[in-house]
Amino acid sequence: VTVYVPCDSAARSVGADQVAERIAEAAGPRARVVRNGSRGMLWLEPLVEVATPAGRVAYGPVTPHDVDDLLDAGLLDGAAHPLCLGPTEEIAWLRDQTRVTFARVGVIDPVSLDDYAAHGGLAGLRRALSLTPEQVVAEVTDSGLRGRGGAGFPAGIKWKTVLGAESELKFVCCNADEGDSGTFADRMLMEGDPFTLIEGMTIAAWAVGASEGYVYIRSEYPDAVAAMRTAIDVAYARGWLGKRVLDHDFSFDLFVRVGGGAYICGEETSMLESLEGKRGMVRAKPPIPALEGLFGKPTVVNNVLTLGSVPMILADGAQAFADLGTGRSRGTQVFQLGGNVARGGIVETAFGITLGELVEGYGGGTRSGRPVRAVQVGGPLGAYLPTSRFELPMDYEAFAAAGAMVGHGGVVVFDDTVDMAGQARFAMEFCAAESCGKCTPCRIGAVRGVEVIDRIVAGENRGANLKLLNDLCHLMTEGSLCAMGGLTPMPVQSALTHFPGDFGATTEERQ
Ligand code: NAI
Ligand code: SF4
Repeated sequence: VTVYVPCDSAARSVGADQVAERIAEAAGPRARVVRNGSRGMLWLEPLVEVATPAGRVAYGPVTPHDVDDLLDAGLLDGAAHPLCLGPTEEIAWLRDQTRVTFARVGVIDPVSLDDYAAHGGLAGLRRALSLTPEQVVAEVTDSGLRGRGGAGFPAGIKWKTVLGAESELKFVCCNADEGDSGTFADRMLMEGDPFTLIEGMTIAAWAVGASEGYVYIRSEYPDAVAAMRTAIDVAYARGWLGKRVLDHDFSFDLFVRVGGGAYICGEETSMLESLEGKRGMVRAKPPIPALEGLFGKPTVVNNVLTLGSVPMILADGAQAFADLGTGRSRGTQVFQLGGNVARGGIVETAFGITLGELVEGYGGGTRSGRPVRAVQVGGPLGAYLPTSRFELPMDYEAFAAAGAMVGHGGVVVFDDTVDMAGQARFAMEFCAAESCGKCTPCRIGAVRGVEVIDRIVAGENRGANLKLLNDLCHLMTEGSLCAMGGLTPMPVQSALTHFPGDFGATTEERQ
């Protein structure tokens, strides 16, 4: 009987390794334990699944101490037990999602190429190789796929720029530096289905005429690094990567590089500097990396989730992807629910779902049981939104119109004990700590921002300091070289707009 226990690092952090060991030990030859990725229902981890003739049955959260009891109750037959959640695919949280990029995560053995191919893997690459590069780029353009790293730039247009650039050498670089607080989708895809990313990168390379690729992974993700390296080795051994990709007249070499732990290395030009062996400093754009990227050569830089969407687009056709979503936000987004939330994890669904449906519906409100007060969407540089904005659809344009951003899809929930002035101060503090130092509005502005918020909260000359903070935010937004300094005002100003009462009383009021 096959028993699945996730090897995902979130599951491992709550004891999945010990559960897997205990099952193997207690069930002996009756069970074959496969380490799969996580289904993304993090509050149920470690989630154990048993393959039965009627499909997989889930149990969770399982501790090592539950294992003997579960086996006695008939775990290997998928029998009833207080921890039994029924057929995995019928758990409402999972059933109601539209899993495209994450279709195989949690289903397959992440580093088994046979398992991958048996679940539709490589179909996209095979089709891409039967098309011309121009046709592949057109397919990606027609799908409406936009960059999932946060900026939402159309992937097809970026690829077209690289395809059209004249050069002997071109690169595909995957940004897996996932530095946003409350985001973990890149990690879970790399740990749970690394071949999907490799396939997306190989398709991108074919489409733009690149012969080398790099996956830049943050050092905080050792399991993702290991999974990617193993999967790349398997892909080389099976004739997918290297001299003749799947026996075609096309060669593609792929390498993993591990970052040093700076948030700014998630900014694409900083990442390229780091890949070149230099300190992660932002480069001025233009030139854009599509024309002058890694080592000055035309380079595709895409996020893990962007490249991870490509195999399905090629396998099922652009229309299938474009049919999902709303407005100019096509396809699915892999939302990540975190913070003070009852049911945290991965929700992959078409754009257009409302913020409220994500937080109250999927998330089930706060973990503390107290009322939700604020939600930060789009990482540490994203806006804080109050529950009165829960009707907002997850859509790049709708969020921009509301002074917010979808970003990389991270949704962090706070209950009514949160101090929003403290959160605003944290945004400035974070920027001061992570600034690469290249431009003044960010390097100096963030430090001054912390000071001025402190003065406002202390009630010192409040009116003048609020005006100063406003001016500073305007300067940072308009004058910063990159999104780090340019977006830091977003959480600050949204906190001020929606939660003005948290910014302290005036000196007169105190007296
Ligand atoms: P950007 O708008 O400058 O560029 C977006 C992408 O489009 C870049 O790859 C750029 O090179 C490319 N591009 C622009 N014009 C082009 C053209 N004419 N042809 C081809 N390519 C072109 O945005 P940026 O600075 O790259 O990203 C900012 C976003 O990053 C923010 O909105 C934020 O959401 C996100 N972010 C994500 C983080 C994460 O951990 N995923 C962390 C921090 C910020
Ligand atoms: Fe560096 Fe900040 Fe300027 Fe970006 S905004 S280039 S991180 S100093």
